[in-house]
Amino acid sequence: MQEASLTIGDRTVTLPITVGSEGEMAIDISNLRKETGFTTFDRGFGNTAETKSAITFIDGEKGILRYRGYPIEQLAENADFLEVAWLLSSGELPTRPQLETFTEEITSHSLVREDMKHLFEAFPHAAHPMQILASEVSAMASYYPDALNPNDEEAVRISTTRLISKVITMAAWSYKYRVHQPYVYPRNDLDYSSRFLHMMFSVPAEEYEPDPVISNALNTLFILHADHEQNCSASTVRIVGSGQANLFSSIASGIHALSGPLHGGANQSVVEMLTEMVEQPGDVGHWVERAKDKDDPFRLMGFGHRVYRNFDPRAMIIKKVAQDVLDMLGLDDPLLDMAMELEKIVLDDEYFVSRKLYPNVDFYSGVIYRAMGFPTDMFTVLFAIGRMPGWIAQWNEMHRDPTTRIGRPRQIYTGETERNYPGIDGS
Ligand code: SDX
Repeated sequence: MQEASLTIGDRTVTLPITVGSEGEMAIDISNLRKETGFTTFDRGFGNTAETKSAITFIDGEKGILRYRGYPIEQLAENADFLEVAWLLSSGELPTRPQLETFTEEITSHSLVREDMKHLFEAFPHAAHPMQILASEVSAMASYYPDALNPNDEEAVRISTTRLISKVITMAAWSYKYRVHQPYVYPRNDLDYSSRFLHMMFSVPAEEYEPDPVISNALNTLFILHADHEQNCSASTVRIVGSGQANLFSSIASGIHALSGPLHGGANQSVVEMLTEMVEQPGDVGHWVERAKDKDDPFRLMGFGHRVYRNFDPRAMIIKKVAQDVLDMLGLDDPLLDMAMELEKIVLDDEYFVSRKLYPNVDFYSGVIYRAMGFPTDMFTVLFAIGRMPGWIAQWNEMHRDPTTRIGRPRQIYTGETERNYPGIDGS
């Protein structure tokens, strides 16, 4: 076994080195504090692996993304989203009979309990759908209390089925409630993506027949968003679950984490940013200069990534899907033209090149969602639907890992040293 030596003053300790299946190396500091009294300090865990995982591999330098060893390009091109959901949790692709049974099971749980409607209707109509979705998922622990034990495999299986199946119903109903339209019930004769589109866009006066072009593109987008190793929301799901919270509560926490504009909320912010750029014709360069100005809080949304120091492979695929969908629908969206112009300017700019800031998964996805007819504030909900199987797989892997401990980071205290209480009158 390889080892690392750490010398502090006149003391030297040796620490084991652990190596992953793709050659990633880590210094195991599990005994650092016991042996040295020191902890490590690493804001945002940029240099810290909290877990070993066999689910998703990212090579940020090469722009590689694989789910259980399968390249994202091949899965996006050829797989079904539920097939990928099975792969992420089980570790292997399903056989055709397994996929058929899994699909039937997911389909048979598509209805949401009627009394859960009261929860939608407790919200203001202007509520953000991510807030509604997080509350609905959190409430599933109360509405479906029969399978909450995180250590009971059968309970986890049925809760997993309920989450993947009902998330599209709850997402669509959160939209219908907000636009004052009646809820549309799931049609079990449709595939997963088509079922969601139908619930979103059908109205009693006019049936919506999902366009296969849009259903297929949505299936691809769900696959591209399905998992991304230890990102902010997946880490949130893991740490909440590490305290033995049930799956619904853990996933609801992940939805809240995803809603932030630096994370999944970026796909909404990108379209708002591009819209502003299109509506204020002029030199795009001044936006780029603002993004470089440290005194200006404005950032180019959809650019940059903690791990990718090259193109985000998902962005490359989404950019092509966006062009294809717009072409097939005969649409011409000025936002796509603006996005391509902005990408070209940014990738020629030393500030972004030197910081390896490339378009990420959120940069082009909103253009497609717009073309499909989704309102901007539903974009992050679409991200959450895609990420659901990844969150569940990460949560399951954490629970099945015998080395899992409750997540509890250390800190470096910088506050007041000891002082005596002076009494309210400072006596
Ligand atoms: C997702 O982790 C995942 O895997 C997430 C995700 C997933 O699938 O789960 O991939 C999904 O969240 C994608 C990211 C979506 N967010 C955005 O598009 C928001 C805009 N991007 C950033 O705010 C930023 O790039 C982050 C949040 C994505 C990453 O932040 P980091 O890793 O903490 O990087 P940083 O803020 O330290 O930036 C490093 C430098 C800084 O400049 P210097 O201090 O070195 O001078 O790059 C600059 C930053 O100011 N920078 C940007 C920028 N992003 C980083 N400058 C202008 N515009 C930007 N977008």
